[in-house]
Amino acid sequence: MNINSLPEASHDAPAVRRPRQRVRVGVLGCADVAYRRMLPAMAAEPAIDLVAVASRTPEKSARFAAGFGCEPVVGYEALLERTDLDAVYLPLPAALHQPWTIRALNAGLHVLVEKPFAVSLAEAEQAVALADARGVLMMESFMFLHHAQHAAVRKMVDEGAIGEVRVFTCDAGIPPRPADDIRYQSALGGGALLDVGVYPIRAARLLLGDELEVLGSCLRIDREREVDLGGSALLCTPGGAGARLSFGIEHAYRSTYALWGSEGRIEIHRAFTPPEQHPPVIRLERQNHVEELTLAPDHQFARIAAAFARTVIEGAGFARHGEDILRQAALVDAVRSRARRVDAAAVPALTSRTDRP
Ligand SMILES: NC(=O)c1ccc[n+]([C@@H]2O[C@H](COP(=O)([O-])OP(=O)(O)OC[C@H]3O[C@@H](n4cnc5c(N)ncnc54)[C@H](OP(=O)(O)O)[C@@H]3O)[C@@H](O)[C@H]2O)c1
Repeated sequence: MNINSLPEASHDAPAVRRPRQRVRVGVLGCADVAYRRMLPAMAAEPAIDLVAVASRTPEKSARFAAGFGCEPVVGYEALLERTDLDAVYLPLPAALHQPWTIRALNAGLHVLVEKPFAVSLAEAEQAVALADARGVLMMESFMFLHHAQHAAVRKMVDEGAIGEVRVFTCDAGIPPRPADDIRYQSALGGGALLDVGVYPIRAARLLLGDELEVLGSCLRIDREREVDLGGSALLCTPGGAGARLSFGIEHAYRSTYALWGSEGRIEIHRAFTPPEQHPPVIRLERQNHVEELTLAPDHQFARIAAAFARTVIEGAGFARHGEDILRQAALVDAVRSRARRVDAAAVPALTSRTDRP
């Protein structure tokens, strides 16, 4: 991509910050996930100074600032104009991620962006090209990747616990949210694929590798609100291992995956959002043998906050995160573009009742 064609790329942009010991972080948006999960982790991280939090409204920024001992700021631009920051954490609605990331990059700030990084591959490409040109870190906040349970699963697979991997299945779903939730607003990048579908896609990449092809998919569409409420996708590796992924925002809660191999099967529950006190359990099935391995709890938000700060301070390894963002966005685009779109209101819902004679 030609860097001169980037929106808002500016030649006299402020210098990129290069902190040496601690990263001074500002927060763009008083989001629920920020309050409950990421800001407590950042406030406890020795390599991070939580400096300021911005909201569109003074009441919210004051509440967040009081909760985390930092300064309240009204307006996102005002936060980016500060000279006492090295980085921002960006938990805005999905459609605002890339535009505000571009502004933060132009302000010389490193960015930790909530998932999904962008609403399309084209948007992600623009931001990654700018970040590469400026030498700035952008990291997509897939905190689950930092939880030790997945490294334990990979080690078991690498050691041959289930033989050759044939199939990966993964489900991520949450119950319906209040009607005014960002997930139901098409203009804000709502919908199940971008909100929860990105988890099974990222997990499939983690466990099956980055050469996955999307063979087909379906999305249940709410025509009135113009968002998808759920869906499924079928992918495969060049070697023919399959991935069956399902996701939704009108579902009983589910957050699980399984790997089925030539000699056994591994399954974990609470794959994406285990609370920090939760001891994860890996279930291994082999012929005539079932084993449950209980691991020590791990705090994935603390780990991603530390990993972000460490990478900024080291000043190296930025490109890998850009490539990761692009691979993820490409697969999400492929699931969307291959999808058979079904009108959620057009067909009566299936229930457990059977009306057959
Ligand atoms: N990594 C994870 O575990 C995880 C978990 C949940 C969510 N997420 C992601 O985090 C992001 C935020 O999710 P959330 O559930 O925390 O959302 P949320 O509570 O609705 O927060 C979104 C924030 O965006 C700001 N905003 C700016 N323009 C807005 C608009 N037009 N409408 C509504 N809000 C607007 C608001 O902050 P101000 O009012 O202060 O300006 C609002 O608090 C999403 O990308 C989501 O996918 C990640």
